[in-house]
Amino acid sequence: MKGLILAAGRGTRLRPLTHTRPKPVIRVAGRPIIHYALENLKGAGVREIGVVVSPDTHGDVQAALNGVAGVEVSYVLQEEPQGLAHAVGVARTWLQDDPFVLYLGDNLFERGIAPFVEAFRRGGPAAVVALARVEDPRQFGVAQVEGSRILRLIEKPAEPPSDLAVAGVYVFDTRIHDLIEGLEPSARGEYEITDAIQRLIDDGHEVQGLPIEGWWKDTGRAEDLLDANRLLLAGIEPGNDGHVEESRLIGRVVIEKGATVRRSTVMGPALIAADSLVEDAFVGPFTAVGPGAEVRGSEVEYSIVADRAVIEDVPTRLQECVIGVGARVTSRAGLPRAHRLVLGDESRVEIG
Ligand code: DAU
Repeated sequence: MKGLILAAGRGTRLRPLTHTRPKPVIRVAGRPIIHYALENLKGAGVREIGVVVSPDTHGDVQAALNGVAGVEVSYVLQEEPQGLAHAVGVARTWLQDDPFVLYLGDNLFERGIAPFVEAFRRGGPAAVVALARVEDPRQFGVAQVEGSRILRLIEKPAEPPSDLAVAGVYVFDTRIHDLIEGLEPSARGEYEITDAIQRLIDDGHEVQGLPIEGWWKDTGRAEDLLDANRLLLAGIEPGNDGHVEESRLIGRVVIEKGATVRRSTVMGPALIAADSLVEDAFVGPFTAVGPGAEVRGSEVEYSIVADRAVIEDVPTRLQECVIGVGARVTSRAGLPRAHRLVLGDESRVEIG
């Protein structure tokens, strides 16, 4: 069994964070999202892993996976993000005739993916698809089921036949490849894996839909990143490998090596990553301060502060913020009392 993680694609809904880097390398609770994918594949006994990357994101993904142990990683280049089925198509040579787990690199699963691999290994279905009940299925692939059997799959339907969304893990054998080859692009111009699976069903093969256990997150929007950050931080083991001076650490707080917390309060669950600085500050629950980041003279909670970002002397508390790599949020003394903003394309700022 091989694993295929998809980490190409444009991540349009997460701009501007994804202008410069692909979604799977964004850190949630201190680790790039793609690390959790590797961990889950490893947990399901899958160690031979292909990662589909695009030419402009190859370097970032490779850097994020540097030093990851216990798996053998290969890279497959997808020149243009033409859809999930297209991504599987370009990986065909690497996959050979092995069964494989298709894992969307921006998805997070609380309890791993072993049940899907086991269901497939027990024999029978031509494919296993992870399903999750969601409030608004219109932004997902949606399944119509009878027992554990999927009868119909539709990609992002305006009128969903059920509330069962396709979560980003699928297990296939070689039969999917021929069906992918015969696909036409969908109305949104992509080669959809949902359509290829529908063809499996139409050809009379059994496709099993298995409910996920625990929570599942498609990190498509900033709100999802913050929510995933919250869920993952809730489970961290507290520990202090950094320097803490004249500060209060309350609840589950992780301070990584080389980090300094000075004259501050950190209220967990929170992560203060390696080589970061928290000084004269309040870091509130569900916040991850990234490696090399600085929070000085400011208050921040329920937020992700990415690598090397700086928050300095901001007079009001920052909440529900995603501050990108190397971004700066500072205050400005003197007159005029005005906000001065230098924002990248498609940035979002809410001034309270
Ligand atoms: O998250 C679950 C949903 O994922 C499913 O319910 C849908 O059925 C499925 O089509 C997919 O929908 P999304 O619109 O969320 O997919 P997205 O374009 O965000 O791509 C998912 C991941 O795959 C992301 O990490 C980028 C990568 N990707 C995407 C495309 C289109 C590629 O590697 N190559 C591609 O061509």
